[in-house]
Amino acid sequence: MKYEEVINGRRSARGFLDKAVPKEVIEEVIELATRAPSSMNTQPWHFHVVTGEPLDNIRKENTEKNLEGVTPSREIKAPIGYEGVHRERQIEIAIQLFQEMGIERDDAEKRQDWVLRGFRQFDAPVSVIVTFDKNLENDDISKFDCGAAVNGLVNAGWLKGLGSVINSQGIMQSPVVRKYANIPENQIIMICVAMGYPDDSFPANKVVSRRRNIDEVVSFVGFDN
Ligand SMILES: Cc1cc2nc3c(=O)[nH]c(=O)nc-3n(C[C@H](O)[C@H](O)[C@H](O)COP(=O)(O)O)c2cc1C
Repeated sequence: MKYEEVINGRRSARGFLDKAVPKEVIEEVIELATRAPSSMNTQPWHFHVVTGEPLDNIRKENTEKNLEGVTPSREIKAPIGYEGVHRERQIEIAIQLFQEMGIERDDAEKRQDWVLRGFRQFDAPVSVIVTFDKNLENDDISKFDCGAAVNGLVNAGWLKGLGSVINSQGIMQSPVVRKYANIPENQIIMICVAMGYPDDSFPANKVVSRRRNIDEVVSFVGFDN
């Protein structure tokens, strides 16, 4: 695949085949992801690749705690709630996903089922928990660096036939993730990425999210025309 094909073809996968992902494939994907640039080449990231029983334990306890109403405990600052254009874009993608999944606006049961799927990281066979070194906690640039690596991760995964969804829902109860994924004390949990072979028959996997036109996001300065 050409670079454009990977970038334009990739979309988040939220339905996966019940098929194990070989460790070697994940190693290849992480190797590509870690070619990401980072500030002063500090490479502050770590990837904890979780599958099988530990991942099932994370899904189960994350779901239980969220349903019990335990206050989410993220280890980096998370948005309290989007407003304005950001909220509009959040709603737009939710509408696209719900339409494809046949979830009506007032169907509380199906909506709840969708939320629960998110808490279970969409039952993906693998979850990659991305962390960074705690001594860089007060430094925004390390989060920027991790973002670059995670973008590389999902694109490299797509190149190798893997679908993935970067997700906050899976790490809402960080102590649970810490416990079962054995995250060392000197690392901060940034995000997780659910990964596996995508189920092409899963409706939400067809959704192509829209992007703002480049006229809206770019301003050129000092050009002749
Ligand atoms: C930091 C971050 C957190 C996300 N959290 C979730 C999540 O909790 N649940 C989910 O279904 N998708 C989540 N997503 C996926 C986004 O909804 C998705 O990337 C966006 O709608 C664009 O769609 P695309 O990935 O298909 O291009 C997250 C993405 C990012 C970058």
